Amino acid sequence: MDVMTDVLVIGSGIAALQASRFLGQHFQVQIITKSSVKMSSSYRAQGGIAAVTSQKDHPNFHIADTLTAGEYHHERRNVEILIENGTEIMRDFLAGGLEIDRQADGSPALGLEGAHSHHRILHAGGDCTGQVLIDYLLEQFTSNIVVNCNEMAYELLLNTDGDCIGVLTKGAKGMKRYLAHHVILATGGAGALYSCTSNFATNTGDGIALAYRVGATISDMEFMQFHPSLLWCEDQAKGLVSEAVRGAGGIFVDEHRHPIMKGIHEQLDLAPRHITAHALFNKRAAGQKTYIDISSIVHFEEKFPTIAQLCSDNNVNLQDGLIPVAPGSHFLMGGVIADDMGRTSIPNLYAIGEVACTGVHGANRLASNSLLEGITFGQRMAQYVIQTGCKQNNFFIADKTYKQIMPSLFTKNQLQQTMMHTLGIVRNPIDMQQLVQQLPSMQTLLHVDLDGLNLPELELYMMHTVATLMAHAAITRTETRGAHIRTDQLQNDKQWVNRWIIFQQGQMKV
Ligand code: SIN
Repeated sequence: MDVMTDVLVIGSGIAALQASRFLGQHFQVQIITKSSVKMSSSYRAQGGIAAVTSQKDHPNFHIADTLTAGEYHHERRNVEILIENGTEIMRDFLAGGLEIDRQADGSPALGLEGAHSHHRILHAGGDCTGQVLIDYLLEQFTSNIVVNCNEMAYELLLNTDGDCIGVLTKGAKGMKRYLAHHVILATGGAGALYSCTSNFATNTGDGIALAYRVGATISDMEFMQFHPSLLWCEDQAKGLVSEAVRGAGGIFVDEHRHPIMKGIHEQLDLAPRHITAHALFNKRAAGQKTYIDISSIVHFEEKFPTIAQLCSDNNVNLQDGLIPVAPGSHFLMGGVIADDMGRTSIPNLYAIGEVACTGVHGANRLASNSLLEGITFGQRMAQYVIQTGCKQNNFFIADKTYKQIMPSLFTKNQLQQTMMHTLGIVRNPIDMQQLVQQLPSMQTLLHVDLDGLNLPELELYMMHTVATLMAHAAITRTETRGAHIRTDQLQNDKQWVNRWIIFQQGQMKV
């Protein structure tokens, strides 16, 4: 079945919805989502959205915090755009009626999270900010925006001029071909490549694999952020315990109730995420259990209703004052290279939100900057597309014959365990080298014929493609920077300053 539209949006998190509400005012928009609009990392976001709204704060402080947390591996201009433009957009949301938590005097109740020098986290419903934001955006949808749920995009289509003109999808009702003037990747991250994650199981990096297959430029795949505090019960991650809990006074402790972060970093429990995640990793590697001590937080259930419910669902008694936690994969800083308008290296193909790499997060994202990224670059991209209009008229699909059959792959479970062990919080070169050899080659993956594969096979292909790029990037960056922590070189190396590991057309360039 063929569907012709003006704009195609692949993914349904905050960046996708923010873009769609603007695009829908001018164009026919088809959104394709692998699951549903209420199953995204954005919808799950607890802590909030970072934006400068207090007189005591300043955009320059927010910029400085972003650069410090990400260890200066940024596109500086895009960081400035994120914070300056993002703050204006957030003001528009508040003027437009977005309901956030406020203090008795009506001013926003500002939370504190890791590596922020000021209280600047806007939140809603206590700890369900993502849900409130997504509902707010959905309320503004017009009838020319169609949401297609439970469909997996598996192949981007290029025309004979090399412009992106559509995508092939598979779902319960079979295969579909969408053709459009503009194609937007907003597929989110790849946390589900790991056995312990805050992400939904559907976050398998599909947008990156799709872009890789058509030769788009991809970068920073070595930088996967681990969140230090996932609720940990029965040897499994059960969901997120927001950093806002530590902003409100929670402290990481070991099983003897000794503070874990003392002596490790001056910001203690609110150190950047790669520091806290690494500290918890070391404790657990030494055989200790790890917790957040919440005994100093009054009215915990009122302040954090979602987390309190999550704890109750998993038989964690808050009266004990301890929430069992462990680190898990959370956010990919790398992705499809996009400029400040979301444009990728392929004409008419855009990338926004977590799937994109605009250089705003550096080597480790600052807490609560991801929703800000979604609203900022979603809006900017939409405005660019509106200005450009729908002029694309070559819908002759370029012939592409894929000859390669699927190479032998790990099972999903094996891949997730291996990624956790080898490309997890701490990486050693011997294991990484072995992983590179076990994974299919970059060239092989590029030529696999996907048409005959079923949905689980397609997903496994996407996961292996993303894992392969991550493994090559991680073994190549021979330094520790932000979330990329190597056992053989535990420091930044000045030779790696401002150097990006880039993939294009099956080749890696440094
Ligand atoms: C959290 O609430 O701790 C997560 C927010 C984020 O990932 O920025």
